[in-house]
Amino acid sequence: MEKLIFAAIIVAALLLGSSSALKEGQTCVADGNCNSGLHCETCLANGNVRPRCTRLQPISPTTKVKGLPFNHYSWLTTHNAFARLGERSATGSVILAPTNQQDSITTQLNHGVRGLMLDMYDFQNDIWLCHSFGGQCYNYTAFQPAINVLKEIQVFLEANPSEIVTIIIEDYVTSPKGLTKVFDAAGLRKYWFPVSRMPKNGGDWPIVDDMVQKNQRLVVFTSKAAKEASEGIAYEWRYVVENQYGNGGMIAGSCPNRAESPVLNTKSRSLVLVNFFRDLPDVTQSCKDNSTPLLSIVKTCSDAAGKRWPNFIAVDFYKRSDGGGAPEAVDVANGHLVCGCGNIADCKANMTFGECDIPEASVAAPPGAVSKDTSFGYENCRPVQFWWLFTLFLVKLMLS
Ligand SMILES: *[C@@H]1O[C@H](CO)[C@@H](O)[C@H](O)[C@H]1NC(C)=O
Ligand SMILES: *[C@@H]1O[C@H](CO)[C@@H](O)[C@H](O)[C@H]1NC(C)=O
Repeated sequence: MEKLIFAAIIVAALLLGSSSALKEGQTCVADGNCNSGLHCETCLANGNVRPRCTRLQPISPTTKVKGLPFNHYSWLTTHNAFARLGERSATGSVILAPTNQQDSITTQLNHGVRGLMLDMYDFQNDIWLCHSFGGQCYNYTAFQPAINVLKEIQVFLEANPSEIVTIIIEDYVTSPKGLTKVFDAAGLRKYWFPVSRMPKNGGDWPIVDDMVQKNQRLVVFTSKAAKEASEGIAYEWRYVVENQYGNGGMIAGSCPNRAESPVLNTKSRSLVLVNFFRDLPDVTQSCKDNSTPLLSIVKTCSDAAGKRWPNFIAVDFYKRSDGGGAPEAVDVANGHLVCGCGNIADCKANMTFGECDIPEASVAAPPGAVSKDTSFGYENCRPVQFWWLFTLFLVKLMLS
């Protein structure tokens, strides 16, 4: 035992000594070992027991290449962004409903999430973020009043004057002007992107710089068609095509549209949204889902959408993956959308579309490929790896 602890200390010292500069895929002990935009985690669901630095954040596509229409960029999107793991209901009740994310809305936004899917209900004379049983919100399925989260978005937009955020509402609100009132009360009216500027026939959206200049930096979609006329809130499927959500959208090689959406190759809709999450959110399996399977559905759906890469990639537990995860899927989509390369990392200002100086082969290397996978030379040596892991767990124990 002493021997083990001694070894653990040596390993900890080695790791921490070389700490806080580790890249994606490198072995870590704690989040602080990894470069910014990364955290330290394992993915037991696909057998990756070695803790590694894992992506939290996509590359900001508008800081790489400016001046393109809104629909030429892809945004990381969180499904049920409000349903945070371990959270109590603001009613005081415990939550007896599925949870889909690990962070507050503010943290999500700070990690580069730019699309937020929110379920809104009338509840307790207010608008709440809620799940439902039979269309009804209960104390034990109600997370918090929507205004709290909308105010977080307001604070973010105020502090980040060149960022654009999209809210996609699963809308159960029937109270008169209920959504209008809550958005106004949160101070979000002044950022509103008007429906009148959304392309109706498959044209390009305004360029992002123009949206920023006019301060029209909040794009909102509702699932209720009538609210476009009554409240000026865009009916999502007049502007967006979207694949099936839940298990039905997770079959490799297939990309059916969700019932409310036109089929994906409907070019009169300028935006493409790809859902990739289970019927029942699963924090342990999500790291597997958000890795290679996500990248391949994104490709499948972009083919199904008539060679259009998704503008929104919506997942559960967006931080969970075996390395690149949803942030990398967004980087890949942005590479194709912004400059015709396999990854936004290869895009440069003023370059000719598709003239990528990085060879495709290295871009197309699958996530978790050996080159990324090792920071030490003996990863494929199982006994050593086992010993290594045992030591790591000991270190983790000692540090916690
Ligand atoms: C639900 O929560 C509210 C507090 O927000 C409380 O007044 C009410 O009694 C609760 N209802 C039930 C059925 O527990
Ligand atoms: C790209 O082109 C614009 C307009 O011609 C110019 O102002 C800008 O400096 C160029 N950027 C780079 C990185 O070359």
